[in-house]
Amino acid sequence: MTSLFSDSISEIKQAATIIKQGGVVAFGTETVYGLGADATNSQAVQRIYQAKGRPSFNPLIIHFSDLDHVFQFVIKTELAHELALKFWPGALTLVLQQKKNTNTQISPIATANLSTMAVRIPSTKVARQLIKFSQKPIAAPSANSSGKISPSTAQHVFQELNHKIDAIIDSGPCQVGVESTILDLSNNVPTLLRPGGVTLEDLIPICGPIISNQPIETKIIAPGQLSSHYAPHLPVRLNCHEIFPDEALLAFGPPIEHTGLSKNLSNTANLEEAAQNLFAYLRFLDVQGRELGLKGIAVMPIPKTGLGLAICDRLTRAAAPRLA
Ligand code: TXA
Ligand code: MG
Repeated sequence: MTSLFSDSISEIKQAATIIKQGGVVAFGTETVYGLGADATNSQAVQRIYQAKGRPSFNPLIIHFSDLDHVFQFVIKTELAHELALKFWPGALTLVLQQKKNTNTQISPIATANLSTMAVRIPSTKVARQLIKFSQKPIAAPSANSSGKISPSTAQHVFQELNHKIDAIIDSGPCQVGVESTILDLSNNVPTLLRPGGVTLEDLIPICGPIISNQPIETKIIAPGQLSSHYAPHLPVRLNCHEIFPDEALLAFGPPIEHTGLSKNLSNTANLEEAAQNLFAYLRFLDVQGRELGLKGIAVMPIPKTGLGLAICDRLTRAAAPRLA
């Protein structure tokens, strides 16, 4: 049975006790809901993979509540420190080399045995209190079944993972709505592994040139790069200027004429608003569309600037051919 908690201090404390005891708890971050467990406890981390049906080669992001704690586990480069000061707490994940011989070890299951570790300090009060009260670094992927749409509300988590996890803390809808930007700093040149809540336009003035790591099938660096991901049941068609009668419409800006099922990510073409709505609207159109017997979801063009890059990345994966 999955317990439902509010984000009151006393209920976050109860959730922290569950984490300390090796349980798994979903909680709201500014990006999406995460499914958290004590990153130093291999059995607890294993339960995250089980609940999500996630392949064991796909490492998790380790969440911390303060900077000093992060750099006990990973090597602090000058650039990492600068980015951390500027963007944390926030929607940026840094991939850095792990330190060897730390007293408290992060479970190698959480990092899929890599020599690097993905780290981030989330900004919601609930996330940081959960980490503080449990006194543990928390391993947390997005709280969805592997390959499916990420959750931006506690209800999304409940619908998918009820009975599979110990608790969900409801702190309302997520502010940013897409996952964190993942920047790999473990090599000479900063590499973008996943566009997300912090934009390239914000990063480049600090980082200089950033290599963009396009999805590749042969060598998976961030398995979030698997081309089919974030997949609704209905097929998704992108950059549509024309909608068929048997399609649902996901609009952006002034909508195309369509009398059937539709949602508008942002009437005013505001990319922040569109990111906030993205996963909830995709889920809605998928469920309602199937009930109405529709054959697909048609998406209007969205610019690839600012948060648009992350939005287009998720939609491209939602539209990608499904792996068998
Ligand atoms: O916003 C977010 O990042 C959310 C919230 C909960 O923090 N988390 C999230 O986790 O999106 P997840 O597991 O859904 O996506 C994390 C991505 C995966 O694609 C994983 O492969 C990649 O991060 N990753 C983790 N550790 C890595 C590492 N050492 N090197 C490269 N990629 C890594
Ligand atoms: Mg995910």
